[in-house]
Amino acid sequence: MADPSYDLVVIGAGHGGYVAAIRAAQLGMNVAVVESRERLGGTCHNIGCIPSKALLVSSLLYAEAGYGLAAHGIAAQGVSFDLAAMMMRKDRIVDQNTKGVAFLFKKHKITHIRGAARIAATGKVEVVDAAGATHTVQATRILIATGSVPATLPGIAIDEERIVSSEGALKLASVPKRLVVIGAGYIGLELGSVWARLGSEVTVVEYLDRILPGMDTEVATLAQRLFVRQGMSFRLGTKLTAAKASKSEMTLTVEPAAGSAAEQVATDVVLVAVGRKPNTEGLGLEALGVERDPKGFIVVNNAFATNVQGVYAIGDCVAGPMLAHKASEDGVACVETIAGRVGHVDYNTVPGVVYTHPEIASVGKTEQALKDEGVEYSVGKFPFTATPRAPTATPTAS
Ligand code: NAI
Repeated sequence: MADPSYDLVVIGAGHGGYVAAIRAAQLGMNVAVVESRERLGGTCHNIGCIPSKALLVSSLLYAEAGYGLAAHGIAAQGVSFDLAAMMMRKDRIVDQNTKGVAFLFKKHKITHIRGAARIAATGKVEVVDAAGATHTVQATRILIATGSVPATLPGIAIDEERIVSSEGALKLASVPKRLVVIGAGYIGLELGSVWARLGSEVTVVEYLDRILPGMDTEVATLAQRLFVRQGMSFRLGTKLTAAKASKSEMTLTVEPAAGSAAEQVATDVVLVAVGRKPNTEGLGLEALGVERDPKGFIVVNNAFATNVQGVYAIGDCVAGPMLAHKASEDGVACVETIAGRVGHVDYNTVPGVVYTHPEIASVGKTEQALKDEGVEYSVGKFPFTATPRAPTATPTAS
């Protein structure tokens, strides 16, 4: 029997891949998506944005019940939480959303192929299914949307129980008494907030001398002050060099970023949140000759085409902000261009939001970036507290 053949085979059903597939189907292409995870939706739906937002909301409600309601004249006594129920709610949301993606695939007649894909040659994708059998699929065009995986630190092995990435931090079986978070970026601050609200003593260790690199410095300084009031502590300009586990606890070795006197810190769980790296292993890119940059990102032109004819890439596995909505925009622009339309993404206007309390949003260049680029600018500021609505907002810890 001849191999099935498609106009477009997308590898990866995350926010980049599934949105690209739907748009391509809407534009008349015959589309298949290869996904190795059991459920569609990629990192964001399964082990990233959505489950973390579910826990952020649950933990915020608990925290507010403990300290924020009295000012509203609301009395709540004996508030407690059931972590297992909180996790079940999160899992239900994940289930519902990933089923939603499956429904959209059906609606748009997109073929879902389960298994791990490798590009065997131009126009040819090999898929190894869960049983180990290999199937071949023909594709006029191939779109790589395999996303990213957590970056690790040398000598620190993630076991997803005591040394966790964001994935393990979303399913801890109990609230750790002490949690050390390595990296004061999006993940460290969001998941650090979740566990701090639920009662962990959270210490954030950050290599740089500030939190939230890439965001406005003044906003980051103010945010740090609020996080401290919420019970988190920070060790800036500090790096983790070793982690040793004994039966009862973990011993971390940290030292100033510039080196010198090492120090030991005891903890129960460590969350490594030092960024993410492109997920391209096993795709056969070396053999195919697909160009990558020194950091491993697939190199594409402004039509998301790689240097290999008929092979495209979008989202976290190409350069640019590693954000779900950016991946979707890449995907839409890529398939619209393939369909002969004009697809374009303006990377200067990709918004970013850290879903802490308060939420921190940014778009465009920061003041520091403009300074570095020698661009003239003028500063406009308006404090949120000066808006009439501000006092009505829910207080953070005080
Ligand atoms: P990040 O790039 O936001 O932050 C990583 C932090 O780790 C940086 O502050 C960095 O200076 C620090 N770091 C690096 N090496 C270190 C070391 N050896 N010791 C101490 N600190 C170190 O990365 P993060 O938080 O892991 O998130 C990964 C990606 O996921 C980000 O690109 C982010 O855009 C995305 N994401 C977005 C979310 C959102 O949109 N709300 C939520 C979660 C993740």
